[in-house]
Amino acid sequence: MPSTLVGFSGEIVRWQATHGRNSLPWQNTRDPYRVWLSEIMLQQTQVATVLDYYARFLQHFPAVSDLAAASQDEVLALWSGLGYYSRARNLHRCAQDVMLLHAGQFPRTAEQLQTLPGIGRSTAAAIASFCFGERVAILDGNVKRVLTRVLGFSADLAQSANERALWDMATNLLPTQDLPDSMPRYTQGLMDLGATICAGRQPQCLLCPVQNLCGGRASGEPEKYPVKTRTLKRSSRALSLLWAQRPDGSVWLEKRPASGIWGGLYCLPVFDSEDALKDFLPPSVHGRLEPLPHFVHVLTHRDLHLAPWIAGFRAGQAMPKAMDAGARAGAWFGPAQWPGLGLPAPIRKLLLQDAPA
Ligand code: ADE
Repeated sequence: MPSTLVGFSGEIVRWQATHGRNSLPWQNTRDPYRVWLSEIMLQQTQVATVLDYYARFLQHFPAVSDLAAASQDEVLALWSGLGYYSRARNLHRCAQDVMLLHAGQFPRTAEQLQTLPGIGRSTAAAIASFCFGERVAILDGNVKRVLTRVLGFSADLAQSANERALWDMATNLLPTQDLPDSMPRYTQGLMDLGATICAGRQPQCLLCPVQNLCGGRASGEPEKYPVKTRTLKRSSRALSLLWAQRPDGSVWLEKRPASGIWGGLYCLPVFDSEDALKDFLPPSVHGRLEPLPHFVHVLTHRDLHLAPWIAGFRAGQAMPKAMDAGARAGAWFGPAQWPGLGLPAPIRKLLLQDAPA
């Protein structure tokens, strides 16, 4: 480690105790189930959003055995609206693996935690350092920003060799003393610094506990870190949605295939085009088909331009056979059932906002 950074971990630990976040619901516990659940929820999602979901999950599933015993539909329904649904599917599989392969106890090392579904290197390290005081480095997006700045690390993180080098440096910066106490604080301190002071734009360097050690600040341009050249190419896709409704208000919803967009969730049937949607419907419904306003749903790599069509089915009128078979299996669900299904957030919003009175 550069000699200028000898005091780094101590400063982070001290700062965390007085200025960090210390009363979030997943703190002040060393229960790996609770810590793991929070870390998975927080992977792509802000603390403010996670709070409600976290409380509801723990209410439904107080222990990992409860989560493991639930159906995937139950888990997805509770996750509905948090996005990145592969997290929910992995969460469920992970709980089942903990029960079946680890006798109901989470493993106690980062190395073993990493073998479980949905737990990557940084998440494994967070759980092991929070719960067991293990001396292991985390390196999520926020922490990459903090450490590349502090270190003045300007190598391109798009190259895996540079990313590996940063992991090594993150390991070298870890505390060396009082590990059971200092590791949780240090890990949380890096997260807190990254989430608050060491922001992507306009970092508040004058409030930072390590401002005097920081290479990024010394360079005068902390914002140029981290360096990563590969930028995501965004694409867009237009889809038509069939909102088939019977007079009793029930709507046809189908379970999406396990992989791909909204995998495993219930959804209005999706078609590649308006023509495909119309070809599919029986002629008797064409006279009761109306377009609703288009809307855009923004995903990580893609904008979805969604065109809903509302189609009035008669009482008891069946879906065409093709819809009710194999991969496209679905059913009629009344409004009272919608909240219990895992619906993608934009579909839920659409149904609730625009449902005919
Ligand atoms: N983001 C990831 N882990 C977190 C934690 N433990 N507290 C706050 N934000 C986080």
